[in-house]
Amino acid sequence: MGFEALLVEDTNLVRWLTVNRPAKLNALNSGVLAELAQAFAQFADDALARVAVITGAGEKAFVAGADIAEFVGLTAADAEAFSRRGQRLFDAIAACNKPVIAAVNGFALGGGCELALACHLRVAASNARFGQPEGRLGLIPGYGGTQRLPRLVGPGRALELLLTGGVIDAATAHSWGLVNRVVEPAELRPAAQKLAEEIIALAPRAVGRCLQAVRVGLDQPLGQAQETEAALFGLCAATEDMREGTAAFLEKRPAKFTGR
Ligand code: COA
Repeated sequence: MGFEALLVEDTNLVRWLTVNRPAKLNALNSGVLAELAQAFAQFADDALARVAVITGAGEKAFVAGADIAEFVGLTAADAEAFSRRGQRLFDAIAACNKPVIAAVNGFALGGGCELALACHLRVAASNARFGQPEGRLGLIPGYGGTQRLPRLVGPGRALELLLTGGVIDAATAHSWGLVNRVVEPAELRPAAQKLAEEIIALAPRAVGRCLQAVRVGLDQPLGQAQETEAALFGLCAATEDMREGTAAFLEKRPAKFTGR
């Protein structure tokens, strides 16, 4: 079905989701959030899409945050529900067993930075800017930013962004480990597509198990996390793709994975 503020396109097994409100710098209002949730659920269920890329329309912004116009008059209870609604969607992205890449094409502020953080990998254009400026609005991040940012870049760097409301450029984000790759703006889409296709060349179930092992293990003590790893390693050995991948290596030919 068609969406009002979200473009959905497929290129070679990659599902591109483009937040499309460029006049408002792709700010996430409740309509966009609902459309993103629906489109993301469709991606998660669609065997013909192996990787999703989330980006923003226009050249200026990935997503400049939650829509501040919707904050007016929020009660404490409304705001808590607002936070939980965004967290549900961002948790679904983070917990997806297929990879999700953020292609950050400009401002990724507030909810936009949190959306990028919920993705598994981040490719940034050199004009990308990251920040959690909610303190300037009398708020804190509510879509996982106070939790995912310190887990990714460490508490000191996270608190620098959270406590100053300041913005960092793509090169700084790269040096912090906040983004995986930085490219020129015109190269962003091809670079994200290429990264997705590198992943698609691997056995799909192994990719899903890697996502699961890292996600589950990060919330566990090391010993238990290694139990998780061993169990998932065992499940991989039960796949046809593991037989094919190992046989192809020994026979010195490219593997042909089927996802079984
Ligand atoms: N919510 C709602 N509207 C937003 C928005 C947001 N988070 N971010 C930008 N917009 C709107 C602006 O209100 C403006 O709308 P208008 O043309 O109808 O007045 C339009 O997008 C363009 O933004 P503008 O501020 O004019 O662009 P700029 O280049 O001068 O500044 C930013 C760009 C990103 C620095 C600035 O828009 C900004 O600070 N945005 C808010 C960032 C933020 O605090 N995000 C966290 C929210 S929790």
